[in-house]
Amino acid sequence: MDIEALFGLSGKVVLVTGASSGIGLHIANVYAQAGAKVALAARRRDRIERAVAELGQHGYSAVGVYLDVTDSASIASAFQAAESHFGAGIDVLYNNSGMIYQKPFLEQEETEIARLFDTNLKGAMLVAQEAARRMAMRGSGAIINIASTAGLRAGGMLSSYGASKAALIQLTRVMALELASKGIRVNAICPGNIETDMQESLKAFEQALIRRTPMKRFGKAEDLDGVSLLLASDAGRYMTGAAIPVDGGQALAWM
Ligand SMILES: NC(=O)c1ccc[n+]([C@@H]2O[C@H](COP(=O)([O-])OP(=O)(O)OC[C@H]3O[C@@H](n4cnc5c(N)ncnc54)[C@H](OP(=O)(O)O)[C@@H]3O)[C@@H](O)[C@H]2O)c1
Repeated sequence: MDIEALFGLSGKVVLVTGASSGIGLHIANVYAQAGAKVALAARRRDRIERAVAELGQHGYSAVGVYLDVTDSASIASAFQAAESHFGAGIDVLYNNSGMIYQKPFLEQEETEIARLFDTNLKGAMLVAQEAARRMAMRGSGAIINIASTAGLRAGGMLSSYGASKAALIQLTRVMALELASKGIRVNAICPGNIETDMQESLKAFEQALIRRTPMKRFGKAEDLDGVSLLLASDAGRYMTGAAIPVDGGQALAWM
């Protein structure tokens, strides 16, 4: 068996949303190292430009495309730009853009609730639709939705975030069901606490969260490498509709 070919992405075109920082930026690098041509997508141009330049210096094939997941026209033009640049369709979507805020349920305002759902749920859905329409025309593709353990269990002050990620997990299952006949696999990764910019807002709760994590540490973006390669590559060819926790056991623990 050729293990490198099984988990590798040689010749594949991947689009990663939220590639300007954190998990998305890291996984864009991992996919490039696995042989993929990578389109890095987000709103912050300076960060995307820097990441693309660094990948280029290492001899990898990368392009920056710009989108706001709350704006469907920008999503369509980002996919178009990526496909035109590489002269090939997107094989893998790493659907990772997202935001968080923590607030008691009773204090949340309509505008912030709307912004979070527009980004984490409607935005992820619109990006996945754009990808799936293009993949369906070619009869193959893999979509990886980045959900959260907050979508699997209840976390205080995370009602909007948790509900958006729970809905994304359910969306993953329904997409998997509908898109299997078109050759498209759809899976979700449910990270626990991973050390990125997003975690900065949870600093006050860090020690309590670590105590509740069976493996007694926060995750690093690197801890998502294996599952991200598995779901994108031929190694995951019979997997669809899964929601895989990568969380040091957090989703198991009641407290
Ligand atoms: N870190 C964790 O502990 C953790 C745990 C579970 C799940 N997750 C999920 O993992 C994903 C990545 O988060 P992260 O931890 O890497 O945090 P991060 O560093 O804050 O990254 C969030 C990314 O989302 C992008 N984004 C946000 N709003 C966007 C919009 N409207 N349009 C396009 N892109 C947008 C940001 O790019 P721009 O601002 O440049 O647009 C940024 O690249 C998120 O979906 C998050 O919910 C994270």
